[in-house]
Amino acid sequence: MYLYAVLFSVFTSILADLSKISGYVKNGTAKYPVITVQDVNINTLTDCSVIVLTNNTIPILDTDDFPELPQLEELALMNNGLAEMKPECFRKLSKLKHLYLTQNKLRKISSRILEGLPSLEILNLSENKIVEIVYGAFSDLPSLKMVNLSKNKIPSVTAEWFTHCDKLKSLNLSFNRLVSIADGSFRNVGSLKSLYLDTNSIRTVGEKAFSDLQALERLDLAFNEIEEIAGNTFKGLENLKMIKLLGNKLVCLYEDVLNSLNDDAVVYLMGNQLSKDCREVIKKFKIDRPTIQIFY
Ligand SMILES: *[C@@H]1O[C@H](CO)[C@@H](O)[C@H](O)[C@H]1NC(C)=O
Ligand SMILES: *[C@@H]1O[C@H](CO)[C@@H](O)[C@H](O)[C@H]1NC(C)=O
Ligand SMILES: *[C@@H]1O[C@H](CO)[C@@H](O)[C@H](O)[C@H]1NC(C)=O
Ligand SMILES: *[C@@H]1O[C@H](CO)[C@@H](O)[C@H](O)[C@H]1NC(C)=O
Ligand SMILES: *[C@@H]1O[C@H](CO)[C@@H](O)[C@H](O)[C@H]1NC(C)=O
Repeated sequence: MYLYAVLFSVFTSILADLSKISGYVKNGTAKYPVITVQDVNINTLTDCSVIVLTNNTIPILDTDDFPELPQLEELALMNNGLAEMKPECFRKLSKLKHLYLTQNKLRKISSRILEGLPSLEILNLSENKIVEIVYGAFSDLPSLKMVNLSKNKIPSVTAEWFTHCDKLKSLNLSFNRLVSIADGSFRNVGSLKSLYLDTNSIRTVGEKAFSDLQALERLDLAFNEIEEIAGNTFKGLENLKMIKLLGNKLVCLYEDVLNSLNDDAVVYLMGNQLSKDCREVIKKFKIDRPTIQIFY
């Protein structure tokens, strides 16, 4: 039977027990529960815009596990014990916009896993065990707007993850194991507006770490181990409105840093070890530039 053949090709490699799978699919506004694989009928699949297969057991996704699903815009595979994805496992999902892979066991994002997803806008990989992301892992995703890599074990960030992601607006790398941010780390994602690097172990931040981010509005560096911010770190970032530096080891912010802030900037410095002199400097600075808000 065609129905069975298709379902078999979708799930054969990924499900130990074909009879047990729960979740739902959506066709237009109608929502159909999936209790067993046999419940999914082929018309629903090819017409459906949403497939939610959360809370099942899908340890591996093989190449072409997903057949052509021309209407599919959202695929949720959260909490499935997913540990491995083979290259091109999603490549026939040309309309896919949202891919949720949170709460799995992924350790590595290899090349070509995300190949063939021209419409992908939101990629949520938070709460995995990612330690390695290969060069080009997020390349050629022309619609990508948001990547969520929070709550993984990522030790460093590199510009080579991304190329031709000209629409990326938000990158969440909080709760990882970052120890430093090198110059040029974000040179291929110049459209970023929000960058979350909080709750890592960052000690050093290159003076040109963010200099390519001309569109940047929010930068979260809270709860790291930063002792010093070099004078030109935020220079020329004309859209930067919010800088969170709370919970670091800063003794002060250099005057060059203060002077480079935009008039509408809000800076959070609570939970640092600001010296008495520093507090005086900031107090004076706030009188000179009253529109800037600094909390310390
Ligand atoms: C899904 O929606 C399409 C278009 O509205 C319709 O033709 C099709 O019969 C529906 N499929 C199911 C299984 O309801
Ligand atoms: C998955 O399991 C969690 C925790 O039990 C539950 O809150 C959530 O609603 C489930 N999601 C789906 C889509 O079944
Ligand atoms: C990322 O996934 C989590 C579920 O683990 C969800 O709560 C969150 O809303 C997702 N974020 C986005 C922006 O989709
Ligand atoms: C990222 O994922 C986390 C945890 O799953 C969630 O709380 C958050 O809302 C997500 N969204 C963004 C934009 O990072
Ligand atoms: C980024 O991820 C963390 C951890 O999952 C979450 O708490 C935070 O809300 C996320 N940031 C945004 C702006 O969604």
